[in-house]
This record gives sequence, structure tokens and C-alpha cells, in this order.
Amino acid sequence: MKRIDRRDALQREVAAARTAGRRIALVPTMGYLHEGHLTLIDRAREVADVVVVSIFVNPLQFGPGEDFERYPRDIERDALLAEARGTDLLFVPPTEGLYPAGEPGVYVVAPRLADRLCGAYRPGHFQGVLTVVAKLFNIVRPDIAVFGRKDFQQLVLVRRMAADLDFAVAIVEGPIVREPDGLAMSSRNVYLSEDERRDATLLHAALEDAQRAFTAGERSADALIATAARRIEQGRHVQPQYIALVHPETLDPVQAARVGSVVALAGYVGKTRLIDNHALS
Ligand code: PAJ
Repeated sequence: MKRIDRRDALQREVAAARTAGRRIALVPTMGYLHEGHLTLIDRAREVADVVVVSIFVNPLQFGPGEDFERYPRDIERDALLAEARGTDLLFVPPTEGLYPAGEPGVYVVAPRLADRLCGAYRPGHFQGVLTVVAKLFNIVRPDIAVFGRKDFQQLVLVRRMAADLDFAVAIVEGPIVREPDGLAMSSRNVYLSEDERRDATLLHAALEDAQRAFTAGERSADALIATAARRIEQGRHVQPQYIALVHPETLDPVQAARVGSVVALAGYVGKTRLIDNHALS
């Protein structure tokens, strides 16, 4: 594995691989890698010849008062993990490597799709995400880019960006990877105290309750959401932000649940904001 911090050096490597006819996959991350990220690298390995992993804590997608400064970072550990899973090129640019002129004058915006769910509570977040992903697509020009279902709204937005702005990249998704007790893996889980960690499992348990009710025949969105909410309310440390039942592509709220409708939720566990989702089956 080569570790590269300059974009021109990365572009030279990728160009050589492209000329040799090799398929290139990109896995964008903010680092502090866990099994969720590593599963995306596995997926990239399966579908491409050259796997590029980027690690960049993107200031553009953090709001004022969010955790940009204290976001967990451990680049040496990340490098070992990424290499062990078959990463070829690890791209770790400094902040000014991607934003040499400071804050960009042009952003990628997604009216409507970015304003709902998490976007309603994190103004500007998704334009920060889409802008950095667009930059990474333009720098690397991957054939394939791999994103996790854990960040469901992000996945939907990246797919739409690739389609609507004609990026020649296939978006591949990876499944949500969970801890044994169901908590979706997240770099932010390290913020949780022991009590909070216990309560955090309620997010996934709430999604399971909604699935059980759906399996038993419940189709009303209000009823399914209430079922999930009841479970979350059992946690002393959990403060739900939203629980929604949405269409998997438009993210429009649905009244009558069907197979494939997505239950999405976000909440604070202590001071840590966590998200999770589940496609009804
Ligand atoms: P980050 O939170 O580091 O996540 C990087 C990728 O890993 C995303 O595609 C995310 O969906 C996926 N991922 C995280 N936890 C996962 C889990 N438990 N199971 C499956 N996949 C998981 O998402 C970002 O970084 C950034 O917004 C980024 C796209 C890199 C742009 O800055």
C-alpha cells in the first residue's frame, strides 16, 4: 500500500493504473476506521483492481458547535487496518490540500433531498458532503465508489449527484455493519459512556420493533413510528431527533409502508448524535 498526501501524486498513480486498463474503486472516509469502513474496502476489492481509500475529516460538513475538532483521528492505526484489507492507495490530504483557497466559492447543493431527515437538523451538512465527494470523484475519477447504507440519506444523495451531474462512476453500496448487540458501528461510538453505550442499542432495537410490527401486518406509518418511538423512550440517555418512514429513493414520507420503505432515525445519546435505518422486508 502507498500512502499519499498530495493530490498530484495520487493522480499520477491513478492515471498509470487507468492507462494499464485497471478498474479503480474509491472508498471515501473520515478515518478512525472500523469494520463498517473495512467491509466497504472488501467490497471495493471484489469489484475493482485498484482500491483507493481516502481519509479526510471534511470541515465543510461540520456545523458550528459540532465535533470537527474532537472528531477521533488515528492515522497510523487506520493505515495498518486499510493495508491489511487490501487497500492499494491511501489518500490522506491535509485540509489545505483539498481547500487551498480556504472555503470554496462553489458548492454542490441538493434542494429538497438535503433538507429533510438529518438535513433538517444539520443545515449545510449535505452540501459539505456532496462538495467533498464531488471533489474526490474529480481527483480520483474512479470507475466505482463504495458507500455504506449506514448513512442512508448520504447514499441517496451521492447516487443522485452522480446521476444528475453525470459523474461517470458506479455507486456501490455496503450493508450496515453492527456490533454484536446491534449498535451500528460508527467512529462516534467512542464518545459514549458505559451507560450511554447500553442505551444506544435502543436505536437498533426500535428498528427491529418496527420490522416486527410490519411483519405482523402493520402498514400505517404513524403506528410503525410510534412502535419505534416507544422503544427509544425506554432509554434515560436517549433523546430522539426524528423517526421517519420514507421512500428509499425520493426520501418522501410514506403513509402506507411497503417492502423497501425505510425507517430512518436519529437521536442524541448523551451528547453524541447517532443515526440508524432499516429497509422493511
Ligand atoms: P465516514 O463516517 O467515515 O464513513 C465513510 C463510509 O463508511 C460511508 O460510506 C459510511 O456510510 C460508511 N460506514 C460508516 N459506518 C458504517 C457501518 N456501520 N456500516 C456500513 N458502512 C458504514 O460518511 C463519511 O465518512 C463522510 O461523509 C464522507 C462520505 C467520507 C465525506 O466526507
